Amino acid sequence: MPNRTVTMIDNRTGEKYDFPILEPTIGPDVVDISTFYGNTGMFTFDRGFTSTASCRSKITYIDGGKGQLMYRGYDIAYLATQKTFLDSAYLLLNNDLPDEETLASFTEEMKKRSFIHEGMKKLFDAFPDNAHPMAILSAGVSALSTFYFDHLDVDTPEEYMEMAHRIVAKIPTIAALSYRYSQGLPVIYPDMNKGFTENFLYMLRGYPHHHIDLKPIEVKALDTIFTLHADHEQNASTTTVRVVASTHAHPYACIASGIAALWGRAHGGANESVIRQLEMIGSVENVDKYIAKAKDPDDPFRLMGFGHRVYKNFDPRATILKEIQQELVQELNLDTGLMAVAKKIEEIALSDEYFIKRNLYPNIDFYSGIILQALKIPKEMFAVIFVIGRTPGWISQWIELKEQDNIKIARPRQLYLGPLDRTPKY
Ligand code: SDX
Repeated sequence: MPNRTVTMIDNRTGEKYDFPILEPTIGPDVVDISTFYGNTGMFTFDRGFTSTASCRSKITYIDGGKGQLMYRGYDIAYLATQKTFLDSAYLLLNNDLPDEETLASFTEEMKKRSFIHEGMKKLFDAFPDNAHPMAILSAGVSALSTFYFDHLDVDTPEEYMEMAHRIVAKIPTIAALSYRYSQGLPVIYPDMNKGFTENFLYMLRGYPHHHIDLKPIEVKALDTIFTLHADHEQNASTTTVRVVASTHAHPYACIASGIAALWGRAHGGANESVIRQLEMIGSVENVDKYIAKAKDPDDPFRLMGFGHRVYKNFDPRATILKEIQQELVQELNLDTGLMAVAKKIEEIALSDEYFIKRNLYPNIDFYSGIILQALKIPKEMFAVIFVIGRTPGWISQWIELKEQDNIKIARPRQLYLGPLDRTPKY
C-alpha cells in the first residue's frame, strides 16, 4: 500500500514533517495539514484560499479545467435543460432528484409557505425610496428570525428541513417585495395558482386586479438561471454561510450573511456591474479603449463578467446561458445594441493574449446580466435573482455542516506584520 503522505522538510533545521493525503471521489488529492501548527509551530499562508480545502462536502463538484459542474453527481447541462429549478433545489437538499409525486408535493409546499408575516411589511416601510433591493433583502431575511423565531438551536434533521423549506419558499416573496418597496409600487402577493418561478415574475411585474401575460420562454429562461446559480462549491458567499454557521448562529443569520457577501461586484454583484459596464462603454467603437484599460496593470479597471477562480476554461453555465440569450434575441426581438458591445468584447477577449494567458473566459455573470435585462428585470435586482437561485445551495451546505460531528468554529490565523510590543512602563 503506497505511503499516502506528503513530507515537508524545514531546510533551516532538516526537520521532516509527514502529513496524510486525503482521497476525494474525484478531483485533486487533499493534504490534511490540520496538525501543521501543532507539529511545526508554524502557520501556512494562502491568500484568498486558492489552494485550501475548507471542508468535506458531497454536494457540488467543479472541474475548472474541463469546465464541468455537477450537483450531487448530476451534470449541470442535464439539470438546466431537462429539469426545473425546484428539481435541483430538492436534489441539493435531499441528495436525490424527486419523482413526479414528490416534486408535486414539494411545489405545493413552496407555494403555501411563500407568504410572509404581515408584520414584516412595516420593516420594508422603514427603507427610503430607491434603497438597493439587496440591502432590503439581507435585512428582510435576517428579520425572519424575529417573526419565525422557534428557538436559537436548530439541531435535528427535521428542524433543518423545516428551516430549508421556509427560507427557500419565502426568499422570492421577500425579494419581490424588496423591489416593489424600492420603487414605491403596491405589494403583489404570491398567486397560489402559479409555479415557483412564474410567481416570482408575477410578484415583480404584476399590478393589483390586473392580469399580466408572462411568456413561457421568459419563465423558462429565468427558471434555468435559478438552476444554474443553485450551488457552486465553496465560493465566497457559501464560505461565509459556513463560517457563520460554525458559530451556531441561526440559519436566517447565516443566509443573510451569504446575501451580504454575494453582493460584492467581484462575486454575485458582477451581473449588475456587467450591464453598467456595457452601458458605460456605450458603443462598439469604444471597446478597444476599455480592453486596453482592463489589460493595464496600473489601471484597477476589470472586465466584469470575465475570469473565475476555478474555471480556467469556459464556465459551463455561461455556455448554457449563451444559448438562452440567442433564443431570447429571436423570440423577443431584443434591442441588440448592448449585445453588440458584449459580442465585440467577447470576440476580442477570447483572442487576446492577455486574457488567454490568464484563462479569463466569460463567466456566468457575463451572460446572465444581458438575459435578465432582456427579461426586463431591473439591474438592481440581478444579484437578488442570484440569491433566489443560490439559496437552496447555501442551505444544503449549512445542513451538511450542521450534520457534522463536533463542528469546529472557523478561526484562521495570520501572518502578523505589525509593531513589536512598545507599551510604555506604567
Ligand atoms: C462569481 O467562486 C465562485 O464560484 C463564484 C461564482 C459562483 O457561482 O458562486 O462563480 C460567481 O462570482 C463569478 C465571478 C464574477 N466576478 C466577475 O466577473 C468580476 C471580474 N472578475 C475578476 O474580479 C476575477 O476574475 C475574479 C474575482 C472572478 C477571480 O479572481 P482571482 O481568481 O482572484 O484572480 P486574480 O484576481 O488573481 O487575477 C489573476 C490575473 C490578474 O492579472 P496578473 O496580476 O496575473 O497580471 O488575471 C487578471 C488579474 O489582474 N484578471 C483580470 C480579470 N480577472 C482577473 N483582468 C481583467 N479583467 C478581469 N475580469
